Amino acid sequence: MPSNSIDSLLHEERRFPPSENFTSQAIASQAIYDEAATDRLGFWANQARTLLHWHKDFSETLDWSNPPFAKWFADGKINVAYNCLDRHVQAGNGDRVAIHWEGEPGDSRSITYAELTVEVKRAANVLLSLGIGQGDRVAIYLPMIPEAVVAMLAVARIGAVHTVIFGGFSSESLRSRIDDASAKLVITADGGWRKGKVFPLKGAVDGALAGKKSTVGNVLVVRRGENVVDWVDGRDRWWHEELASADAEHEAEAFEAENPLFILYTSGTTGKPKGILHTSGGYLTQVASTHKNVFDLHPESDVYWCTADVGWITGHSYVVYGPLANGATQVLYEGTPDTPHPGRWWEIIQKYGVSIFYTAPTAIRSFMKIGREVPNGFDLTSLRVLGSVGEPINPEAWVWYRDIIGGGTAPVVDTWWQTETGAIMISGLPGVTTLKPGSAQVPIPGIKIDILGEDGTRVDPPNGGLLVVSEPWPSMLRGIWGDPERFQETYWDRFKALSGTKYFAGDGAHVDADGDIWLLGRVDDVMNISGHRLSTAEIESALVSHRIVAEAAVVGAADEATGQAVVAFVILKSKQAKKQTTDEAVAMLRSHVAEQIGAIARPKQIFIVNELPKTRSGKIMRRLLQDVAEGREIGDTTTLADTSVMQIITDKMK
Ligand code: WTA
Repeated sequence: MPSNSIDSLLHEERRFPPSENFTSQAIASQAIYDEAATDRLGFWANQARTLLHWHKDFSETLDWSNPPFAKWFADGKINVAYNCLDRHVQAGNGDRVAIHWEGEPGDSRSITYAELTVEVKRAANVLLSLGIGQGDRVAIYLPMIPEAVVAMLAVARIGAVHTVIFGGFSSESLRSRIDDASAKLVITADGGWRKGKVFPLKGAVDGALAGKKSTVGNVLVVRRGENVVDWVDGRDRWWHEELASADAEHEAEAFEAENPLFILYTSGTTGKPKGILHTSGGYLTQVASTHKNVFDLHPESDVYWCTADVGWITGHSYVVYGPLANGATQVLYEGTPDTPHPGRWWEIIQKYGVSIFYTAPTAIRSFMKIGREVPNGFDLTSLRVLGSVGEPINPEAWVWYRDIIGGGTAPVVDTWWQTETGAIMISGLPGVTTLKPGSAQVPIPGIKIDILGEDGTRVDPPNGGLLVVSEPWPSMLRGIWGDPERFQETYWDRFKALSGTKYFAGDGAHVDADGDIWLLGRVDDVMNISGHRLSTAEIESALVSHRIVAEAAVVGAADEATGQAVVAFVILKSKQAKKQTTDEAVAMLRSHVAEQIGAIARPKQIFIVNELPKTRSGKIMRRLLQDVAEGREIGDTTTLADTSVMQIITDKMK
């Protein structure tokens, strides 16, 4: 966490109570905290019933008889897509814009709820005609275009399971996810627009499916980039052709509340990404509830924009399911913030009158660096709520965000949550909470969080500890796809013997005297690069898969712009080492990682070394490498097998 040491955080004295104007119109008040405190499960049952349409009501809210395998609203029946579409049309809101889509080259489309419903019905019929049914997995590899939303909802509508793979991931990453999920269908595009150019997508799918036998029967291809693509007859089909000939009617069937909705792969502490499984009723309840309460959504008047890509959990919960379940009008933007000019985001806010804006600290910091002149050139007065997610937001960025983007009045809600939690867990509520820059603040109503010491007992201020969720919550992950043991071990065993079945989040945290929570970053080998999760082990295994590499160690080093940056220490195989210069080897390895995982994983720096610091049991001491990478005094080296190693490494780097 750059420049956010616990000392400087605790000296943060600025406080921002909600204005009377804001509170008087706010959706949430103290009453929802009181309701949840009195009857936690009753609160969630009430949220489920008031925010969603149930084809069949549920009789039991939570079944926790077999922890950690939870069932929420188990005998209820629901259709997720119906909740996001048809019911808004039936309620007379069919003409409301669901999506103002802005393509990077400047083309745009506004799609109403009625139109979106018809698109999804057609797409659902196409999926059925391709033999996709309840429980089948569909991989989605698309740019930020309306078809990404349509594809996800069409899969949900027929009770199938989507696994969205971020468009920046490589063919290799795509392949391993398609295989792990045994996907029957891939939905992709020819290409999408990014930084003024078309980047191809279909080719990566072709690469992922080439050669080896795969479970994939068909590939549906959206036309967007208009770039030339290869075509496999019989397997590949154009999305627009299929949709044009599909029936526009499709009746949504009700599925069990625990019907799987999606698998989303995320990095863990080993080299193999985990397929996080989410189901329907509980997930939709919590995303709808948090989207409404945390962002103070007034669907009839607000224009909402979350800048996350649908390839990440934030895109699932706060671009697709939360906003659409709530009948919101939102902006969807295809490209990068600085194309064709550095004010593109602010121009979009001005164009659509965006009132609620949700983005990541890394973006805010990069705008701070460019300077306030750029946003000051646009009319941002429509903004009334700002959100932050993905990593701790340092107080300076928080205040800049509020002042420069939010006109000095818009509350900033810092929302802590994870792929696994499915929805926001810790955040202030803008009409209730006195906001404190740098702190994510308090659990949302109905959520129980504790900070525990290594021994499983609660840690009191001012000490830090490990963040746990102490009671099950509606949008919690239901498992790791195909790996119940890893699910148990990773999240639930940590405190089991000490203090019962509690969810171990992997983040360090600290509570202050007011009871506000300050996140201190990961306590495991998961890095956070620009708000994206990557594991050190994943990048290490990509590096050692290269023929010239003997050994590799990766650390996340503090970085002003991206929060953390990937820094690798690599030992080359001795014969290979002589064949090229160090610069050549470094360049080769950086692009190798990008090919193996995706450009987001490309190390910022690679150091070629002769030794790595290891304990006597052979474990690499990443802590010491992190000291080197961050230019600090090297910490305690007494547990090293060979204490001279660090000297050799630091000498080499001078
Ligand atoms: C970090 C993203 C501090 C944290 C929604 C967590 C945060 C990981 C915050 C999950 C925040 C997310 N303050 N840290 N407001 N939000 N994190 O799964 O380390 O991509 O464990 O989910 O991001 O990342 P993920």
